[in-house]
Amino acid sequence: MSIARARVGTHVRRGLVVWGERTRFGLTPNMPFHPGLPPQYTLRLYDSRGKRACGIGSWCELGIRHSWAQMPDLAIGATFGLLSEVKFTVDMDQSFDTNWLLFAFPAVLKTQHAFDPMLLIAILVAFSTSAVILSWAFIPGGLAWKNGLNKRGAVPIPGPRGLPFFGSLFGLSYGLPHRSLARMASRRAATQLMAFSLGSTRAVVASDPRIAHEILTSPHFANRPLKQSVKSLMFGRAIGFAPDGAYWQLLRRIASAHLFRPKHIAAHEARRQVDCGFMIEAMETEQFLNGAVVLRKHLQNAALNNIMGTVFGKRYDMSASSDEVDELRDIVKEGFELLGAFNCSDYLPWLSYVYDPFRIDVRCSALVPRVRKFVMKIIEDHRERQSGNLSHGSDFVDVLLSLSSGEELSEDDTIAILWEMIFRGTDTVALLTEWTMAELVLNPNAQTKLQSELDLVLGVGDKSVNDADVARLPYLQAVVKETLRVHPPGPLLSWARLSTSDVHLSNGMVVPAGTTTMVNMWAITHDPNVWKDPLAFRPERFLDGAGSDDGSINFDVRGVDLRLAPFGAGRRSCPGKNLGLATVGLWVAELVRRFNWVPHESHPVDLTELLKLSCEMKKPLCAVAVPRGGRH
Ligand code: HEM
Repeated sequence: MSIARARVGTHVRRGLVVWGERTRFGLTPNMPFHPGLPPQYTLRLYDSRGKRACGIGSWCELGIRHSWAQMPDLAIGATFGLLSEVKFTVDMDQSFDTNWLLFAFPAVLKTQHAFDPMLLIAILVAFSTSAVILSWAFIPGGLAWKNGLNKRGAVPIPGPRGLPFFGSLFGLSYGLPHRSLARMASRRAATQLMAFSLGSTRAVVASDPRIAHEILTSPHFANRPLKQSVKSLMFGRAIGFAPDGAYWQLLRRIASAHLFRPKHIAAHEARRQVDCGFMIEAMETEQFLNGAVVLRKHLQNAALNNIMGTVFGKRYDMSASSDEVDELRDIVKEGFELLGAFNCSDYLPWLSYVYDPFRIDVRCSALVPRVRKFVMKIIEDHRERQSGNLSHGSDFVDVLLSLSSGEELSEDDTIAILWEMIFRGTDTVALLTEWTMAELVLNPNAQTKLQSELDLVLGVGDKSVNDADVARLPYLQAVVKETLRVHPPGPLLSWARLSTSDVHLSNGMVVPAGTTTMVNMWAITHDPNVWKDPLAFRPERFLDGAGSDDGSINFDVRGVDLRLAPFGAGRRSCPGKNLGLATVGLWVAELVRRFNWVPHESHPVDLTELLKLSCEMKKPLCAVAVPRGGRH
């Protein structure tokens, strides 16, 4: 019999029982069930029906440090072909004695005495594991919510326990976290607020507009948790991740006064038009060559060039291959992958020593010097030609370099701030345009309505659409709002918030300090209690009159009404929302004005989502662009 197969430690009546199996030669003589039984223990052998085994030395006093090896006659005799199963029962003299543990562990570990270091470690591990499992079993929200942290308010925060140690990590690390969280919250009637654990990280998610509003606008949720990749890529000092305080306020003030100021956005209108023109040319070429257009790469090129123009004052010929363009594309792609990767070590720090499938640390360390070199070159160019005067057309590098003394930023901070803008402003704009076009391909009625509006307002001709035109196109705006509702680019509002103190919510719940806090915007915009017929793409709901939900033509998506706030809300809401909306509005208008977009027979539109840094179409949109008659 091999001890590995024995069940050790079952406590029967007052004793410990080990089951063995019949073997040809009886029990293996050195079965290690014997670390040193004190003399008051007796050992008896029974057969499987509990009868005393016959014909053998039926019981035997075991002395301290006796082993089976020293009692081969007993061991062999015990099973000498007679028994199909043997039970060894150790009767204890005391009626309540937990000493059996002392020899149960040695038996499992095959040690010879009770104070073996291995044995002590095993006892420690066993106790702490059982403590973890026991406490996990009784904590809603999982282990990160231990010590009643979810019950600090009058109303406890409900939530799933998840798995011991891991919490809900696995449920969210693959698939679509916004959908999984929405399902979990609605199953537990926890849509207002749900507690859950991501490894050792305590988290809550709100899927209710009222609570979401309280969270996003509270000054106590004005920090963000930092992932490893964010720290390694230097974003801790950029606008999006700098902790609330004087430094962050300075950055927001500078950005609002320059980069995101309405006059500055208007001054860059021509750039949006030019980038759109290049994009349309490239699409025409692809349509001519391939009979269809895969929109994403064109939109990404245009969005990247547009941000490079607005922020860095640099333009590139994205259709040509040059060392600089290739390097830019490469570092941006690598940065997106690293920032978008779901890294379990962010929630289980010890895991990084044994498991790092994305090699986040190594890749970040390799990327940072490349970014530094790339951005520094642009900064040096600006320094060389800097006149000291800012104009409406100045880019963000000019602005940062012209800060007066006292407000000056270090080189590293400047690089981080500029570098972050690429990640915030490129993907979101390209993906929102792609989702909008996908819905228009799938909804030809909406596309025709939009074309009629464009023809009516702009007339038939070659004039480019401008920002003022977009403001006069209510159906276009309704189409973009409806796309933001059905496909919010940041369904969990991109980067989460972190509570800086215990926060009392109006529903009686208290979010403890240091809790990672998310708003599930996707759940809110797909909630039938919030939106009528939420799965349907119906821009009319944002227009006055028949078909309108109570969110009418004036519905503001910029963080006023949390039924649809894809740019977040409160002091950490997206500062680039006006720039983003201006760009997407203009590009969608141009694309729809110039072409009829129809589905491609062998590449049907597939709205399956993939959540990376933003939520994108899993299969890039491919459609046939048929030039509209009368234009060009
Ligand atoms: C369709 C386009 C966009 C969408 C859907 C979007 C969405 C978001 C969201 C959801 C947040 C987090 C808000 C919160 O925590 O309440 C955010 C933050 C931010 N966004 Fe955007 N964004 C877009 C375009 C842009 C653009 C074009 C830029 C800049 C060029 C930009 C720069 C930022 C920055 C710097 C932050 C961090 C703000 C802070 O933490 O203080 N975004 N964005």
